[in-house]
Amino acid sequence: MTARIAGAVLALGLVATVAAPAWAEAPDPARGKQVFQAWCAACHDPNPRLAGTLALQTKYQGEVPAALEARTDLTPELVAFFVRNGVAWMAPFRKTEISDAQLADLGAYLSKPSPAKKGAAR
Ligand code: HEC
Repeated sequence: MTARIAGAVLALGLVATVAAPAWAEAPDPARGKQVFQAWCAACHDPNPRLAGTLALQTKYQGEVPAALEARTDLTPELVAFFVRNGVAWMAPFRKTEISDAQLADLGAYLSKPSPAKKGAAR
């Protein structure tokens, strides 16, 4: 199931890569972290009582970390898919909220190897 979604997301990502205009700047994980704190942390910080963290703990039962920043399996394409489409009751984010460039930064941040990310050291 997850593999099928990942496959579809990968395909979408490839199309997007071909179709997307070249970014003025390369995606920057440091800016991505700011996007995460502004839009995602309220539900996805490491606190197990937060909605996103709790839902992902329930979904994966510890197979992967419940906190997004501790994950090592996320790709920019996967992050973009969930951010633009939403999942369960996580609402999709519009381009007026998170621009394509900010989304690329966010994807770079969340797909970085976890030791570089806040929360990974806990
Ligand atoms: C209102 C709370 C909320 C906010 C804000 C939120 N999310 Fe979520 N998110 C959730 C919930 C709840 C789920 C789990 C849904 C489920 O059970 O599959 C989720 C799931 C995800 C997943 C899927 C992970 C997986 O493996 O299934 C990703 C990726 C994700 N969120 C990224 C983000 C990002 C990036 C942001 C910020 C732009 C964000 N979310 C903002 C609540 C939120």
